[in-house]
Amino acid sequence: MSNAVRVRGLFLDALNRPVIVRPTNEAATIDLTDVAADVQLPAVVSINDERFQVSATPRGEREISGRVALVTGGAQGFGAEIAKGLVEQGCFVYIADLNGDGAAAKCRELGEEVTHPITVNVADEASVAAMAEEVAKTTGGLDLVVSNAGIVRAGSVLEQDLAAFQLSTDINYVAFFLVTKHLGALLARQREAAPNWLTDIIQINSKSGLVGSNKNAAYAGSKFGGIGLVQSFALELVEHGVKVNAVCPGNFYDGPLWSDPDKGLFVQYLNSGKVPGAKSVEDVKAFYEAKVPMRRGTTGVDVLRAIFYIVEQAYETGQAVPVTGGQVMLSS
Ligand SMILES: NC(=O)c1ccc[n+]([C@@H]2O[C@H](COP(=O)([O-])OP(=O)(O)OC[C@H]3O[C@@H](n4cnc5c(N)ncnc54)[C@H](O)[C@@H]3O)[C@@H](O)[C@H]2O)c1
Repeated sequence: MSNAVRVRGLFLDALNRPVIVRPTNEAATIDLTDVAADVQLPAVVSINDERFQVSATPRGEREISGRVALVTGGAQGFGAEIAKGLVEQGCFVYIADLNGDGAAAKCRELGEEVTHPITVNVADEASVAAMAEEVAKTTGGLDLVVSNAGIVRAGSVLEQDLAAFQLSTDINYVAFFLVTKHLGALLARQREAAPNWLTDIIQINSKSGLVGSNKNAAYAGSKFGGIGLVQSFALELVEHGVKVNAVCPGNFYDGPLWSDPDKGLFVQYLNSGKVPGAKSVEDVKAFYEAKVPMRRGTTGVDVLRAIFYIVEQAYETGQAVPVTGGQVMLSS
């Protein structure tokens, strides 16, 4: 097994700031025993037969700056907005998606020096394990996992196919277990050499993880289950310095899930007559916006600010942060 994770842990411990550890053929510039708070980066170190270049991203004004983050489902929708916002704050971001071409395109758009695409099926254990290996090899570890990939398979409990119910459960619920299992193990290994370094796993859940959703039980059930996993993982991983929290957004009306002109939910609801009296997509959108006390849908920036809060707040784990414009509030 590569020593990259151990090397990253030693630098985290000495510098108390994020670093990127990449394999290199360059000659070592410092000895591992010289890694101290005043070490100059970039530096090259050797350990056994391996050599690594250790560098840091520029720091901005936020604590989040310079962190190494991974966003599942980062090719589009909320995930793409989150990846963009993290890059803008000076993070290095893995964009991990089933749509490998989309992930690569998003990396080109955001800057190939500060991003890395991974093709992954988060519902497949071998694929998630390979993703964790790729992270360890590419940056020697990471600081923030955003488990965002998710799908909606709406339908009546009286009519829905079992396959659609199970697909929703696999991607929204089981996959969060797999991502936490494999990336959480990497964070725990990293912590062995950096006993004071806190890291984060954040699940992008939903307001439907806090309150039921009519004719959408497969989705709401999987998201409610996600909150149970967040609380349980938080209790267990606290000893490894990993905080586990959820962000529960309201509907992202400007994202492709709702606004795609061909298959978005607004068009679907217009065509199926779900909104009484609606004659256009705008009518359907207005109907849904009126349900939100703040009269608009959730945006990527709203979700990002919740992520910043969770990462910067060292004293928060096992929580679900609603970002719903007041549409859903915590009740216990
Ligand atoms: N859109 C909303 O209104 C809304 C509201 C609340 C919560 N959410 C949650 O936000 C998250 C993102 O939703 P979105 O609307 O941006 O979705 P989206 O459909 O726009 O994007 C989802 C991304 O996940 C990827 N993906 C799907 N299955 C995958 C798999 N098995 N492995 C890896 N990647 C996979 C897709 O390729 C896509 O790039 C989801 O967890 C969703 O439940 C969305």
